[in-house]
Amino acid sequence: MTENADEPARAAAGPASSEGAQASTAAVSRRRLIVGAAGTAAAGAALGAGVTAAVLGSNERGAASVPGASGTDSVDLTRSVPFYDQVHQVGIRTPPQRHCVYMTFNLTAGATQQSLQVLLARWSAAISQLVQGKSIGPIEPSRPDAVSVDTGEASGLAPASLTVTVGLGPGVFDDRFGLAAKRPALLANLPRIPGDVLQPGLTGGDLSLQACADDPQVAYHAVRNLARMVTSTAQTHWVVLGFGRASAGPGQETPRNLMGFKDGTRNVSTDVDYESFVWLKDADWMTGGTYQVARKVLMTIETWDFDRISDQQRIFGRTKLEGAPLSGTKEFDTPDFALKADGAHVIDQASHIALAAPENNGGVKILRRGYNFTDGLNSQGLLDAGLLFLTYQNDPQHFVGLQQKLGSFDLLNEYIRHVGSAIFAIPPSPKAGRYIAQELFE
Ligand code: HEM
Repeated sequence: MTENADEPARAAAGPASSEGAQASTAAVSRRRLIVGAAGTAAAGAALGAGVTAAVLGSNERGAASVPGASGTDSVDLTRSVPFYDQVHQVGIRTPPQRHCVYMTFNLTAGATQQSLQVLLARWSAAISQLVQGKSIGPIEPSRPDAVSVDTGEASGLAPASLTVTVGLGPGVFDDRFGLAAKRPALLANLPRIPGDVLQPGLTGGDLSLQACADDPQVAYHAVRNLARMVTSTAQTHWVVLGFGRASAGPGQETPRNLMGFKDGTRNVSTDVDYESFVWLKDADWMTGGTYQVARKVLMTIETWDFDRISDQQRIFGRTKLEGAPLSGTKEFDTPDFALKADGAHVIDQASHIALAAPENNGGVKILRRGYNFTDGLNSQGLLDAGLLFLTYQNDPQHFVGLQQKLGSFDLLNEYIRHVGSAIFAIPPSPKAGRYIAQELFE
């Protein structure tokens, strides 16, 4: 058993699946590409540098002048991340891929314990195929009156480090399915939190799928096909299409959220912190699992974009380009929340990082794995975009405690609105030959 897919393994094209020739063809024919951020940036710069410089009157946006843009952050689309035999489900500690499709589901009125069991078994088998870059069944069935099992849009695409993380909501353990005795100890609906303006259509869910991949079409194909194979048991509830990861893994540069700030600088990253704050220990069948909180957070982007830079930096407590705490000069300098100048705190006590930092929250840390999202324009013609805020923690109260404070006092609140919310138990990774949460039915 491997410890985890922390470093995605380079999987050889697997043996032909039950689909036979079709699956193996898909597996070997998928495009093999290595796309470097540096390459993309360089190509863009070559095309646009002259025009951009002329319009801006400077080369301020040029890659060479941006701190941290070393160009080492590359993506290998041929990589695949194994699904079975990890201690923890993948897609949590796995270095964040570039895109994410996050979907929640509600179990239908006709769903039973047995149909839930079949759903989890079918999803597990299908995910194990998808992460290898294989289809989940015939795309072009031989019988003319047959319907495609796999919808086909990922045919020819590489695995792109696809991970699919499966979550079980509180509703799975209510009186409908006879599973109340196995409810994970800390799984309960989140309380109302100050500042919440949650929309029912973006809140809750009995199941969640978080599909992350370096190719958006691979992630979308996975969720679309997993949803399609269980329609009589689970109906789609809400979905967010995320891009531009807003957190970093080992060796990755810190990416930026849509407010233009680096996001994920001080995230959970060490083994000790994962053990202390993310993974569940001595938790019966959930040992090795964790809890996922999902929040859809809208940004009032047009207003933000006209806020002066000093205010933007005061709100986060960090500089915009380097991402340094206002008490220091470099991104990874430890913030000094006590430092004062002219009698005032250099990092505002109501700034986002001052309120969220472990130093000011009894040492509590949560693993953030956010993605930017956009839904285009809203009904007023304004940019409809924000942050899909995904966190993993071994105690949901760690999220709740932080958000109660942020929701009440954060300077950032002027520019954001929490409109979606859900919590899920994330079971450990299944062993080969088993399926996610099989222990529930034994
Ligand atoms: C749209 C919403 C949000 C935005 C744009 C945002 C952005 C940021 C940025 C730019 C940083 C500084 C860089 C870093 O250390 O990652 C940060 C830090 C952090 N954020 Fe957020 N964040 C948002 C929501 C939240 C929420 C809802 C929580 C928790 C309930 C949270 C918890 C944290 C924590 C724990 C840190 C690290 C603080 C530290 O240790 O210095 N954030 N966030």
